[in-house]
Amino acid sequence: MAGIPVEPHLFVVMGGTGDLMRRKLLPALHRLSAQGVLEGRCRILGVARNTQLDDQSFRALAREALTEAGLLTDERSPHWCEECLYYQPIGKGRPEDYEALAARVVALEQEHNLPGNRVLYLALPPVAFPSTIEGLGRAGLNRGPGWTRLVVEKPFGRDLVSAQDLNHLIHRYFDESQVYRIDHYLGKETVQNLLVFRFANAIFESLWNRDRVESVQITVAERLGVGDRAGYYEHAGALRDMVQNHLTQLLALTAMEVPAAFDADAIRYEKVKVLRSIAPIHPDNVIFGQYTRGRVGDQEVAGYREEPGVAPDSQTETFVAMRLEIANWRWQGVPFYLRTGKRLPRRSTQIVVTFRHPPVSLFQPFERCEMHPNVLVITLQPDEGFDLFFEVKAPGEPISVQTHRLRFRYDEAFGPLPDAYETLLLDILTGDQTLFVRADEVEASWKLYTPLLERRPPVHPYWAGTWGPPAADQLLTQWGHQWWTP
Ligand code: BG6
Repeated sequence: MAGIPVEPHLFVVMGGTGDLMRRKLLPALHRLSAQGVLEGRCRILGVARNTQLDDQSFRALAREALTEAGLLTDERSPHWCEECLYYQPIGKGRPEDYEALAARVVALEQEHNLPGNRVLYLALPPVAFPSTIEGLGRAGLNRGPGWTRLVVEKPFGRDLVSAQDLNHLIHRYFDESQVYRIDHYLGKETVQNLLVFRFANAIFESLWNRDRVESVQITVAERLGVGDRAGYYEHAGALRDMVQNHLTQLLALTAMEVPAAFDADAIRYEKVKVLRSIAPIHPDNVIFGQYTRGRVGDQEVAGYREEPGVAPDSQTETFVAMRLEIANWRWQGVPFYLRTGKRLPRRSTQIVVTFRHPPVSLFQPFERCEMHPNVLVITLQPDEGFDLFFEVKAPGEPISVQTHRLRFRYDEAFGPLPDAYETLLLDILTGDQTLFVRADEVEASWKLYTPLLERRPPVHPYWAGTWGPPAADQLLTQWGHQWWTP
């Protein structure tokens, strides 16, 4: 990770004129250069269909993107674009187009005296993954004179079979050690800190099991609706878009065993192991919801079916809540509740660990002594930090017990956190696969959720601006639990 020098390389972005490049990759690469991490060692080749673009017009687009990201105030930016950015059209993606791309890659490497290290970044819609991987592989771009790393964005497949097919195709040309499957949640500083929090603090790790933990909740709530992404979202839905990847990653990091070492293989091995221990999910333990017109904050917002591009009778879920059980020695019998949705009252990602009540309630005889269990709330965004809720005696007589909290906030301790893409790009460039999803991990996750895609639970409506359909609350109350409200 940080500290390892980045070797000179060519950073090839397939989908170089797309949204991801504009909003995330270019700003992150620019910031890493400005921090001196990439200085002079990175040349970027944008690749897209547009045959009208050339280096100059591509740089103009990049300048616009950097201005939008508020980065062009840096007086080095225009110079950076001239020095680092190049463009190559891939036209219709015929074999000769990929051969021209391969020739351009070699020419740029010679021109800039690069040793042949290459990142091939698929910043493309998933339908374009197979043909692009084939094209790159057939043109010999899967191996170069230095290292070659393939980066694949989510969604990785639509179900178990398509994920297996994609892995199979990738492995025809690339070794798994070359593959970086992105889940941007893993790049978030607070998500990585989960590992440090769990494995560097003996007090929590010794409580992290079925003897001490009553339940675990993971919520990823969004205020935003589907926006202009209906074309994608209508065919994805919240289960594919959020649960299969982001929430499952959070679950794996929360529930995994202590790895044998702090390296990519050891950590990913434990993540796969815990995912494989999750018992098949019963459809009765899954609630799907879809937002209808409502108010979020002081704003009146449209229902999902009224959003542009959404079918008026759409059955796509914008909310999922579910109860999972992990059948292993550590967690047997402890429910894990997952919840995510769009158009909820606020943006919040939290992991809530509720500990068991004390075995004997000594203070029951006193009035005003309703005891609450200890709760650890890990807030991953926004307002990143930890809160530990515990019981204290209020001063005076008679005895009265109140809940208070210990509070830690990242920004107070460290200032602003780096963007997830900066972290992930740096890891790709230094060859650290810890924060990327391995082939068997993505398949284990799809194996868990594919039956729900085949036998979809009914979709319950919920008002925009609420915490989902009432059925999501009932899912917990029937087990004597309730959702933690961020
Ligand atoms: C993306 C999903 O992967 O994650 C989006 O496709 C979602 O639908 C986004 O809005 C949430 O990411 P973040 O970092 O804003 O929590």
